[in-house]
Amino acid sequence: MPTVSFYNFRVFLSKSTGMCGLLFNLFVWSLCLLCLVDLALAGFTSSFIRSEWPSIDIPFDSPEFAVPDGYNVPQQVHITQGDYDGKAVIVSWVTISEPGSNVVLYGKSKEAYNLSAQGKFKNYTFYNYRSGYIHHCLLSELEHNTKYYYKIGTGNLLENFGSKHLLRLMQMHHIRFGIIGDLGQTYNSLSTLEHYMKSSGQTVLFVGDLSYADKHKDNDGNRWDSWGRLIERSAAYQPWIWTVGNHEIEYRYDLGELSTFKAFCHRYATPYAASQSSSPLWYAVRRASAHIIVLSSYSPFVKYTPQWLWLRKELHQVDREKTPWLIVLTHAPIYNSNDAHYMEGESMRAAFERWFVQFKVDVVFSGHVHAYERSYRISNINYGITSGNCYPVPDKSAPVYITVGDGGNLEGLASRFLEPQPEYSAFREASYGHSVLELKNRTHAFYHWIRNDDGKFVPTDHAIFHNQYWASNTRRRLKKHQHLVSLTAAY
Ligand SMILES: [Fe+2]
Repeated sequence: MPTVSFYNFRVFLSKSTGMCGLLFNLFVWSLCLLCLVDLALAGFTSSFIRSEWPSIDIPFDSPEFAVPDGYNVPQQVHITQGDYDGKAVIVSWVTISEPGSNVVLYGKSKEAYNLSAQGKFKNYTFYNYRSGYIHHCLLSELEHNTKYYYKIGTGNLLENFGSKHLLRLMQMHHIRFGIIGDLGQTYNSLSTLEHYMKSSGQTVLFVGDLSYADKHKDNDGNRWDSWGRLIERSAAYQPWIWTVGNHEIEYRYDLGELSTFKAFCHRYATPYAASQSSSPLWYAVRRASAHIIVLSSYSPFVKYTPQWLWLRKELHQVDREKTPWLIVLTHAPIYNSNDAHYMEGESMRAAFERWFVQFKVDVVFSGHVHAYERSYRISNINYGITSGNCYPVPDKSAPVYITVGDGGNLEGLASRFLEPQPEYSAFREASYGHSVLELKNRTHAFYHWIRNDDGKFVPTDHAIFHNQYWASNTRRRLKKHQHLVSLTAAY
């Protein structure tokens, strides 16, 4: 960049007169603009250093985890999408003393709960912990663009949980997603959650590592319960779309616990069968204008494994006419320049990056690294063991990769970034926070990341995303326009 100050620069230009002066002015302004463009493409490492609140879990008996009053009252209420297209919702809750009722009453008005659905319950043990009764109830054949209210339980044994409204289920294009990862249950976690709730988000895309119960002695299942009560303030009112992280694996051979994802699979339902997945750990849902693909970083995904075969099929089913936006969720980031977990996403990159480019994925959200980072559109699909092309290059067809594993869990921040900042990295900062992605229409989306600065809500990183399918192809848009005109003419 020129070192001359802007004021001196203007004075210098104003002294250049005549045609030569005009040409010279044009040349210098062009040079200046080029410099600015170059600056805009350079990555930025934020120098912000937060004075960190203690990274310890909120005490178990704190009001933030309050158990509802009354005998066997449902707790840990949360909902998620129950089908492929957003016309069903799974309502889940836990009762402690006995199973109680399995019924959800619901309707379009707080005065008329004239519909009902029957759920199922199950429980599990983990070493010396025995869970409560975990209920899952599918409400199906819901109408889009309609607000529903629901109550849990009937009869004398259960008090009604109270009115909870479901998300206004939408098929229209506009939707606002919140993206949260690695949340845990510290005061930082609570602050991130409360910030998200101020953002008017309509659905949470959760990118893995939920309760961090596995950081407590013997993977204390009570910390799964407290986490369920913590997130209920949001998750009972709008769908949270779940991705698993490494803290959900809970493989403890030393305790005789040899199955994996045991607590997660019992507690957090996913609509995997609706997208013909064979596992609750990877699946897809279509929500408003987005096709959302959830992948498991901790399940086999190399060629010919079930996840690999499923993803290949699912990508071919994406219909950008119905869902213009294509979003992928993983836990381990594929592009990450933090010292923490560096290269852990490399094996998934090698397996899937070519497809992400081929099918024009708009954005890949990940967690795992306890810091924030956004990439430029880059790819490394020309990499080969013998080619030598091993560095990612700008690629207009590639997704943006965003790491948002900064929910605020007890492990603290990943504050050491690799230096120098790689060219693929657009912005990075080691703070807690969450992201919001607002799909405005089929071509444009607003994105921002909100820093959680000791409780203060500080919008920090912003970007406008152009849809990879619709905004990048003028001929395709023109064809669509001509098609709509011909339809109109036909009427
Ligand atoms: Fe993780």
